[in-house]
Amino acid sequence: MHITSISGSPSERSRSAWLTQFALTRLEGVATRSEHIAVRELPAAALLAADAQDPAIAQAVCAVAGAGLVIVGTPIYKAAYSGLLKLFLDLLPPETLRGKTVLPLATGGSAAHLLALDYALKPVLSALGARHVLDSVFATDAQLLRHEAGGYVPEPELLARLDRALAPVAPQLSARMHPDVEVSCRR
Ligand SMILES: Cc1cc2nc3c(=O)[nH]c(=O)nc-3n(C[C@H](O)[C@H](O)[C@H](O)COP(=O)(O)O)c2cc1C
Repeated sequence: MHITSISGSPSERSRSAWLTQFALTRLEGVATRSEHIAVRELPAAALLAADAQDPAIAQAVCAVAGAGLVIVGTPIYKAAYSGLLKLFLDLLPPETLRGKTVLPLATGGSAAHLLALDYALKPVLSALGARHVLDSVFATDAQLLRHEAGGYVPEPELLARLDRALAPVAPQLSARMHPDVEVSCRR
């Protein structure tokens, strides 16, 4: 499976970008090809002018168009996804996400705007044709602890949620999941 991840954070040491790339590493067994797009590294003037002809932007758009799974990662800014992410999503042609599986990911300062993925990002993904959207994964900053060597350490509960979200495309991850709900069907 060709997997493309998109990070919409403007930060250099971004938690959401780290989580997005970490999700890619969880999928190493199923990825035939993987690409990561850091929107902050695309040419700013071309992004602001919505210049889809810019070579770097055209290449990034192709990476999304060619993927079977697209991971969309964003920080929560002012109760929504980042404006930087929107600049890039606006450059995708209509129906770009049709037929693809999409995983929405976000990090936020607290759980206060956890639902921003549902009320803000998912409608945009739907407008782009996405119909197969995996469980979204939201992490607070406290669930991603800074690692002294760089990067972050996800809390076990976050890791379990990420694996559960990815299990439909990476069945090997479901073996590591701990069922947290037991449903009894006794009458
Ligand atoms: C301009 C700005 C606005 C923010 N707004 C929110 C917000 O509305 N809700 C929230 O939970 N966190 C908010 N935060 C905190 C970030 O979402 C959080 O620190 C996130 O993990 C940053 O992700 P990043 O490291 O990938 O950029 C905001 C941060 C900034 C810089």
